[in-house]
Amino acid sequence: MGLLPGGVNSPVRAMRSIGRDPVFIARGEGAELVDVDGNRYVDWVMSWGPLIAGHAHPEVVAAVTAAAGSGTSFGAPSQAEVDLAAEIVERVPGAEMVRMTSSGTEATMSAIRVARAATGRDKVVKFAGAYHGHMDGLLADAGSGLATQGIPASPGVTSAQAADTIVVPWNDRGAVGRALAEHEPAALLCEPYPANMGLVLPDDGFLGFLREASSATGALLVFDEVITGFRVAPGGAQERERLTPDLVILGKVIGGGVPAAAYAGRRDLMERVAPAGDVYQAGTLSGNPLATAAGLATLQLLDRAAYERLERLSRTLADGLEAAARAAEVPAQVVWVAGLVTLFFNEHPVRSYADAAGCDLAAHAAFCRGMLDRGVYLPPSQFEAWFPSLAHSDAHVEQTVAAAREVLEELS
Ligand SMILES: Cc1ncc(COP(=O)(O)O)c(C=O)c1O
Repeated sequence: MGLLPGGVNSPVRAMRSIGRDPVFIARGEGAELVDVDGNRYVDWVMSWGPLIAGHAHPEVVAAVTAAAGSGTSFGAPSQAEVDLAAEIVERVPGAEMVRMTSSGTEATMSAIRVARAATGRDKVVKFAGAYHGHMDGLLADAGSGLATQGIPASPGVTSAQAADTIVVPWNDRGAVGRALAEHEPAALLCEPYPANMGLVLPDDGFLGFLREASSATGALLVFDEVITGFRVAPGGAQERERLTPDLVILGKVIGGGVPAAAYAGRRDLMERVAPAGDVYQAGTLSGNPLATAAGLATLQLLDRAAYERLERLSRTLADGLEAAARAAEVPAQVVWVAGLVTLFFNEHPVRSYADAAGCDLAAHAAFCRGMLDRGVYLPPSQFEAWFPSLAHSDAHVEQTVAAAREVLEELS
């Protein structure tokens, strides 16, 4: 704690909100973590999303090892970057051209810059409880670590940056329509399946409404698929929903556990990016050989059968948690989609950040502590999703549901 603020290099790793110190990890094996004291856990965090293939998947490790032997960074283009871009364009409907970055934060920042340049407008409309990385202007009413720590807006953000961000409630068509008409933003930015306030799915037709309303008012529709990309379907939420955004932000799975992200979209927009165009954005390690190797190896594992498996596993987990809560008579809402699950401690369905914030956070904290004591490592926050992976087995699900039954009984 004397060397790292809060003992961590990213706030979501801390366990303050559940009244614990963070767990220090020694190694990961498939769907399991081993801490420095030798305790073993079923891991439902999976590095917060990149590890869809599991920890230290042999094919990913082999690809990264081979790449490292040929040089860890060139500062010049390489074939693997073209191969990864081709994979992205093939899978993601809205991706016609791709620029890689090293983090989702950078990718969001850059996509917003392109949107501003293309529209000649400044403002951005985002949703309360959505998290798009730690870009200054997008920290307002953000989910994830900010929600967990109760930080509505970070000091250090200038009032000019804050003034360019308009925050509206998720699933509220009226508020979106008014914000678009009144502020004429450059971009309407959303996580199509928001997973940083817990997983809160769009109401039927809401995403279609966002597509129509943004086009009608000249704003670009930007999907942040850093979590959902390559996870909920090969082409992400946009494939499941049959909707094409103007720009898309990708991360996490795309780097297979090594730092990588990207923004992509319509060719005419992406051709604005330097040096093809005049919108400047750069990165010393962008598209580096280790990240591209890990990303390509991970994507090779993600065939149709993999998504069917992920869907079945996520459903079994969600059903088991729901049954455990019902048996213990603990008010709960389980929300899930392939590769993402959230157990909300709430009597009512959760449709917005306000609903998520109204959950019984003390019960959630006690649940996480009880699960950790039983060898199940969960996101230590109500405002996050669990990340099922291809490495999780039915036995992992059974162990988790059995532990949940015990802990929920204790709570009731
Ligand atoms: C939806 C979403 N967008 C952007 C980001 C930022 O990505 P990074 O942490 O790689 O900067 C995150 C991180 O969790 C995220 O969940």
